[in-house]
Amino acid sequence: MLRWPALATALCLVTACATAGGSVAKGTIKEQMKVIVQPSADTLFAVGGAVDPANGPDAPKVEASKWTDAGKAAEAIKSSGASMLLPANLKDQGAWKTAATQMRDHADAALKAAQAKDGAKLSQAANDLGDDCTACHSKYKNQTAS
Ligand code: HEC
Repeated sequence: MLRWPALATALCLVTACATAGGSVAKGTIKEQMKVIVQPSADTLFAVGGAVDPANGPDAPKVEASKWTDAGKAAEAIKSSGASMLLPANLKDQGAWKTAATQMRDHADAALKAAQAKDGAKLSQAANDLGDDCTACHSKYKNQTAS
């Protein structure tokens, strides 16, 4: 269902793309949060918990589809993080840039961990990613709105 990468490639042609070789998601920030970031984070947090070695020695031995799902979710969040750094979305060079960069980089770490089937690294990256949501929302998202 994620057709953003193709559109994002087109976007890169007109807006000096910030990432080297990575895809950049398209859509308003609100749309991306709702359609891409939240559902992908739900998947990543669920798999991150399931594969966390702290939850028992067999935790990292989940079925193959979980790692694939986590990888796809991480890739989608990474694209959205890259999009938040595009000139049109970059709100400032301070906390916004930091939070968006960390979202992109923690998602990349999650992607690599999913590909390597590394439960410790995936759960760590998912935890770090959760902190990025809070860091950005506490400053830039209207906390009273849904
Ligand atoms: C770089 C900043 C930034 C980061 C990082 C970020 N968000 Fe957001 N998020 C926003 C902003 C800004 C809004 C408000 C958008 C609006 O209402 O126009 C928002 C809104 C949302 C919404 C509400 C969407 C709606 O339908 O109104 C959800 C859900 C959400 N974010 C999930 C997440 C999750 C999950 C993460 C972490 C994986 C995350 N966000 C990381 C900036 C960020």
